[in-house]
Amino acid sequence: MSLRDRKIIVTGGPTREWIDPVRYISNASSGKMGVALADAAHAVSGETVFIHGPMDNSLLSGRPFRITGVESTEDLLEAVMGELTGGAVLIMAAAPADYRPAERSNLKIKKSSDELRIDLVKNPDILKTVASRKAADPSLAGLFVVGFAAETHDVEAYALSKLKEKDLDMICLNDVAREGAGFSTDTNIVVVFTRDGERLDFPLMTKRDLAAGILEKIEAELGRRDR
Ligand code: PMT
Repeated sequence: MSLRDRKIIVTGGPTREWIDPVRYISNASSGKMGVALADAAHAVSGETVFIHGPMDNSLLSGRPFRITGVESTEDLLEAVMGELTGGAVLIMAAAPADYRPAERSNLKIKKSSDELRIDLVKNPDILKTVASRKAADPSLAGLFVVGFAAETHDVEAYALSKLKEKDLDMICLNDVAREGAGFSTDTNIVVVFTRDGERLDFPLMTKRDLAAGILEKIEAELGRRDR
């Protein structure tokens, strides 16, 4: 089955975890990598859905694929789980917040004391939840899952351990400490590792060109499986 016959689910952007009505925890993801991947997916697939966290809406205007906006990591988890089908490809370029405040205050927290401590609790890991569902549900056996790894040190070791821990078919490592790579830029530098131990290096290039290269690699991997 080629990509033309598969649904491609792409996630992008950050998530937002509210502390009180005016403050939140988030990160510097712009959603550009996700949009570039969704554009590249739309060019090769019969059905593309882009699920994104809070981002600049002008990056989304006129896009011809289905778009779902979410806010928190728990919302993103629910939206991703709701889209999974057996033959689908899931590309997780979003940067979900790993922690959220244990409690959200309904009132604005006043700056009365010199120090303020906020207890955080761990958010669900979306890719690990997908892996558990895939293992438990035979109808999802053909799901192809691609993760990203945003690392600043020991980059390959962390990426390879995420590939294994999250039971991914492929991981795209961006060393976000490198100039021109990672968050908010129009360019990226990525190394792709596959489940079978293959490595493919993408030097500095636009996120648009990179996204097309990643989709080509996914198509090649799926083709190899089908043979
Ligand atoms: O949006 P841009 O400004 O264009 O920037 C692009 C990017 C740097 C955000 C993107 O290329 C990228 O690296 N996305 C993944 C960021 C991230 O969350 O990395 P991580 O190493 O913390 O997570 C590893 C993988 O697990 C990712 O696929 C992530 O989507 C996923 N994850 C993370 C947390 C969580 N609770 N559940 C997850 O599934």
